[in-house]
Amino acid sequence: MLTPLSANPKQLTEFFREAGFTHEQFQKNPTLRDLPSRRLGNLPDLLERTSEHTALHVLLRWFFLGVPLESESIAGLVPAPVVAQLLETGMLVRDGGRLTPKVMLTPCEGFLFAADPAGTLESPESSAMALWPNQSTRLLQMFTIRRPSGATLDLGAGCGILAVLASGHSRQAVATDLNPRATEFARFNVWLNGVTNVDCLTGDTFKPVEGRTFDLIMSNPPFFVTPSTGQIYCENSMELDGYCRDLIRAAPRYLNEGGFLQMTLEWVQVSGQSWQDRLNEWLEHTGCDAWVLRSFVRSGAAYAAERIGTMMPYSPLTANQVFDEWMAYYRARGVEEIHGGILVMRRRSGQNWIRIENVNGLECAEPFGEAIVELFANHDRLASDRSADQMMAWKPRLPSDVRIDQQLHLEGGEWKPSSMQLRRPGTLPSFLALDPQVADFLRRCDGTRTLGDLGRDLAAEVKVDPEQVCRQCCAVMRKLVERRLVLV
Ligand SMILES: C[S@@+](CC[C@H](N)C(=O)[O-])C[C@H]1O[C@@H](n2cnc3c(N)ncnc32)[C@H](O)[C@@H]1O
Repeated sequence: MLTPLSANPKQLTEFFREAGFTHEQFQKNPTLRDLPSRRLGNLPDLLERTSEHTALHVLLRWFFLGVPLESESIAGLVPAPVVAQLLETGMLVRDGGRLTPKVMLTPCEGFLFAADPAGTLESPESSAMALWPNQSTRLLQMFTIRRPSGATLDLGAGCGILAVLASGHSRQAVATDLNPRATEFARFNVWLNGVTNVDCLTGDTFKPVEGRTFDLIMSNPPFFVTPSTGQIYCENSMELDGYCRDLIRAAPRYLNEGGFLQMTLEWVQVSGQSWQDRLNEWLEHTGCDAWVLRSFVRSGAAYAAERIGTMMPYSPLTANQVFDEWMAYYRARGVEEIHGGILVMRRRSGQNWIRIENVNGLECAEPFGEAIVELFANHDRLASDRSADQMMAWKPRLPSDVRIDQQLHLEGGEWKPSSMQLRRPGTLPSFLALDPQVADFLRRCDGTRTLGDLGRDLAAEVKVDPEQVCRQCCAVMRKLVERRLVLV
């Protein structure tokens, strides 16, 4: 049981920060890449790598490796008031002469998040554990639109990390979870990070916030596609991908006009359907614009093997049996592939659009919420301004991070350009092949002049009918705007 204290947590969190228990440390230190695990057998190596007599190594041993330490071994490294607070909160317990950690701590963006210790995953308690921030958390964290939000909901909040991170750009945030243990951790983390605008509620999906609406809903839900229901942190009681479907279908009721739902998700492709069909069915007639980015696809067998490997409470002996059960479940339902990715929906009155795309893996090194905002803004312009006249009023702007890659070939002893590609790097990269005339035209797109003026100037320069130039400008501009290579 964790207890938020009446005292300010600053002394505690400052000590962690000064000792170097920080996000930057976790990023740069290879020791901290893999969690300690019986399956990997990496604990002895991790102990060796954290054997220096320093405050950081004490904190890592307690709150990353999850090992008890003798009281004498920490003398002079952790101040008595810090130890007292760790004991008072329940993050440590005294066990004879030893101090035993009860939580794992993960630093992120200057905050600290307590969750169940890594070892819980390999124990019978795994079914009800509060999961620590992991890869899918990070994906949603990077993908979140960090614009000011009046009301934000983190659904399936686990230890509350996304709600706490969103507290800085939200007037009020709510973290909800079906698992009361997760709510306990979320409440504790709200205190630990000195945040005052996050409420933590327990309940199923939208039940705890019935009747309320939000500007931003984030969810990293329990989306594993499994025949079982035992592990609350990743499994759910619905058939196949039904939990994600129901969440998507219900969400518009809880969104304000213009409000966004951003979530991670997995879905199946069954025989006779394309990988997009199921999503299209889910996303039609929701009153929302929707954009899905698929980041992976696996055969049923590859998916089962990978997921069973990560849900480690299964012993190797039972793993084969579990694998056979999963495969029989998929076969009976015609599941051929399982897909995963991210979804954004925005509630908007009027004619809505749906866009479903593929990317080969998502690099999550940097936040890309702003790219989502751009994508929606550009899509709105494309949907609303369909005529050439409307487009002529656009003031196109080339983003500062676009680049042109040029390929040259040898001709008559000289290098000659053979192709050009306009490219925008980043987590959502985009490309378009260009001819040199268009590249030259784009130089002038600085957001100050209308497409009409730019087109007329070009027509005068190349002595071509302005009507024809404008038609060509519109065609190419639509492709560029669709790909965020030009902003309007
Ligand atoms: C993949 S974890 C995500 C936790 C956290 N948001 C993160 O990103 O690290 C999914 C969370 O959903 C919660 N959950 C499972 N079923 C739920 C339900 N029916 N309603 C609300 N939350 C649920 C689990 O307890 C778990 O905390």
